[in-house]
Amino acid sequence: VKKIGLMTSGGDSPGMNAAIRAVVRTCAYYHVECVGYYRGFQGMIAGDSIPLNARSVRNIVNQGGTILQSARSKDFLTEEGRKKAAENLRNEGVDAMVLIGGDGTFRGGQVFSKEHKIPVIGVPGTIDNDIFGTHYTIGYDTALNTVVEAIDKIRDTASSHNRLFFVEVMGRDAGFIALNSGIGAGAEEILIPEEDLGMDRLLDSLERSRRAGKTSSIVVVSEGDKIGKNVFELADYVKENLPYYDARVTVLGHIQRGGRPSCFDRVLASRLSVKAVELLLDGKKNLMVGMMNNEIESCSLDQALKGKHNINKDLLRISEILST
Ligand code: F6P
Repeated sequence: VKKIGLMTSGGDSPGMNAAIRAVVRTCAYYHVECVGYYRGFQGMIAGDSIPLNARSVRNIVNQGGTILQSARSKDFLTEEGRKKAAENLRNEGVDAMVLIGGDGTFRGGQVFSKEHKIPVIGVPGTIDNDIFGTHYTIGYDTALNTVVEAIDKIRDTASSHNRLFFVEVMGRDAGFIALNSGIGAGAEEILIPEEDLGMDRLLDSLERSRRAGKTSSIVVVSEGDKIGKNVFELADYVKENLPYYDARVTVLGHIQRGGRPSCFDRVLASRLSVKAVELLLDGKKNLMVGMMNNEIESCSLDQALKGKHNINKDLLRISEILST
C-alpha cells in the first residue's frame, strides 16, 4: 500500500477530526501518502480530494465536526456511482481507503470493496453508538456529555416552575444516548426503542412520583421510541391524563452532534485510526476497528453490519431504583 485515501461519511460526530488527524499522521509516520476526500462517498464520485500531510491536520484534534465534511450519498447506492469513485481512486493512485462513519458508510464500503477490489477499513464514528464490534463509537461520549449538560439546565427551570419536561434525544433506532444520559442526569423515566414501557406504566410512574412528593420531573425520550407517535403527542397524552402536571417538551436536536470532542473521544479516535492504517499496511481488508473492553480489535465489515450492539438493560433497572 503506497497511498491511502480517507473520508468521513454519514452524520458527523465529535472526534472525527481527531480520527482524520490520526490517519494522516500514521500515514506520515510509515511514509505512506495520504489523500482526503470531501463529503464522503460524494467526494469520491466527484474526485474532490486534497493531499494531506502531517502539517495539514494541525490543531484539529480539539475541533468538532469534520474538516473533510460529510454527506449521505444517494449516488453511491448506484453501481455507476461506485464505478466512477473507483476510477477516480485509481487515477489518483489510491490503493486503500479508511472510511470513518456509521453503518451506512460501512455498507457502502463493503459493496464498493467487493466490486472494485479496493481494500477498505471502517472506523466507527457516530453519536448513536449503535455499531456491533465496538463498545464505543467516536462521538458518543461527547454527545452524552452535551445531553447531560443540557438536561442539567432544563432541570433548573423545571424545578423553579414545578414542571414536567419531556426531553427528546437522538440515537436513531437505538437507546444508548437516552439510557445513559438519563441515568447521568437523574431522569424520572427513560423511554428507549429497545423496551416498550407502555403508556399505562408511564402514567403510573409519574403519578407515583407526584405522590412521593416530587414537584418536577424529567423524562428522557429517545427519538426512536415507539410509545407515542412523537414526543409532543406523548406530552399531550400525559397532560390529558394527569392534568396537574404542567408539561413542556424540549427537542435537543443537532446540538448533540456538535462541540469539542471529549478526551475520551479524542483518545478513542486516535487509537482506532492508528490501528486502521496499520491493518491496511499489514495487507488486511474489509474490517472494522473497534474497542472492546478497552482493547483495540477488529472484526469483518460483514460481522459489524450483521451483528447488533445491544444496550445493557440492567441500566433500566438501575434507573428505576434511583428514581424512587
Ligand atoms: O446518526 C446520527 C444522527 O444524528 C441520528 O441520531 C439522527 O437520527 C440522524 O443522525 C439525524 O440525521 P440528519 O442530520 O440527516 O437529520
